[in-house]
Amino acid sequence: MEKNKIWQGNWTFIMAAAGSAVGLGNIWKFPYMTGTNGGGAFVLIYLLCILLIGLPVMMAETYIGRYGRKSPINSLNKITSDFSLNKIWVILGWLGAIAGIMILSYYSVFAGIAAAYIFNYIPATEIDPAQYSINYFSKFVSSPQKMILWHSLFIITTCVVVGKGVVEGIGKTISILMPTLFFLVIALCIYSSFSGDFSEAFNFLFNPDFSKINTSVVISAMGQAFFTLSIGMGAIMAYGAYMPKEQLIGKTVLIIVFLDTSVALLAGLTIFPIVFSNPELSVSSGPGLLFETLPVAFHSLPFGNIFASIFFILISIAAISSSVSLIEPFTAWIEEKGIFSRVQGVILLGGIAWLLGLGSVFSFNIWSAKTFFGFNFLSLMDFITNNLMLPMGGLTISIFVGWILNKEAVQKEMKIPKSLFKVFIFCLRVIAPLAISIIFLSYFFS
Ligand code: PHE
Repeated sequence: MEKNKIWQGNWTFIMAAAGSAVGLGNIWKFPYMTGTNGGGAFVLIYLLCILLIGLPVMMAETYIGRYGRKSPINSLNKITSDFSLNKIWVILGWLGAIAGIMILSYYSVFAGIAAAYIFNYIPATEIDPAQYSINYFSKFVSSPQKMILWHSLFIITTCVVVGKGVVEGIGKTISILMPTLFFLVIALCIYSSFSGDFSEAFNFLFNPDFSKINTSVVISAMGQAFFTLSIGMGAIMAYGAYMPKEQLIGKTVLIIVFLDTSVALLAGLTIFPIVFSNPELSVSSGPGLLFETLPVAFHSLPFGNIFASIFFILISIAAISSSVSLIEPFTAWIEEKGIFSRVQGVILLGGIAWLLGLGSVFSFNIWSAKTFFGFNFLSLMDFITNNLMLPMGGLTISIFVGWILNKEAVQKEMKIPKSLFKVFIFCLRVIAPLAISIIFLSYFFS
């Protein structure tokens, strides 16, 4: 990572971090997880996790990155040296770097499907578009060749962008594309609320049925909160390294969290009205939900196929702006180490993610009956990264910034009013560690 490069202006950091946060997690994963976990109760726990754990952890990560101004591993190296602390904390950087590659491996598989859907047209004469859409998805994922092709294309694109350097490549494109995505999500949500069953969708999302809450719903909601904000693995730390010195961390992070949460809720309010107005579609259909519903929504619109393509182009872009931040922490470290160049590093890491991704591709077809510890390969990767590694990373970051670092030094850098700083430190010291530990313990001992 170029040490002296700092993003120009306050908006570049906001857009890049929002670019990392807003991705498939919001548009694809949030709606399907809400669907499979029973709706409103899941949403409520998810929102609580975002506010009480996600927000403070994201601020803490940004702080470490801006302090160190290097890759997460080396920022942690620097901060532990400066404060004369045990080097064991650097493991956090390593675990995050590894989690990033593991997440990228399956993220790319779904981003590949989204990219392929740019070219998916429901024939104008089709009388049952919902059924057509369900069949199309299951046919698509049953072909390992097609899935591998799109998975490969997505990994290559990610590597090209990261190889060029995050500041130039990502910083510039995102500031144009993210606003376009926001605009389209809002427009589509308005359309869908008029043409589908909005009130039932609203009820499903915001009327919690507490009987649906169990430990597995809670651990999934917490994992999703970490995943959607890109926290717990160093992505935000890596971007924090480019943040201008004067930018206010608290306010900036609040904007990012607000944008991310709004896109997820809007995606839910777009997809569920369509599901509820088409009896063939089911809220709990899982990872295929987005791909089965959106084409149906567009089908009935004038020029629907063109809009559908544009929308999937934007989803693919949102996915790229997230995937680069998955591979960046490890790549930045390789580059700093100096044994390999940035380009060689990204090829190596991209190759590993590609290979690991094949397991997720096969989970849909030739390995669909194979289980590993009771999960198929894809759900195992998803579980280990989102439900274990990211919350574990978040727990460590909270303890590190809340208990280990010098409070005065943190406050000086954060520049938030004393009373709010107290709340921030309380969340890091008590709420986040306690909540994450209780959720872990109750999941594994129930
Ligand atoms: N936040 C991204 C999304 O919602 C995924 C991501 C997770 C990106 C972790 C970087 C780090 O799609």
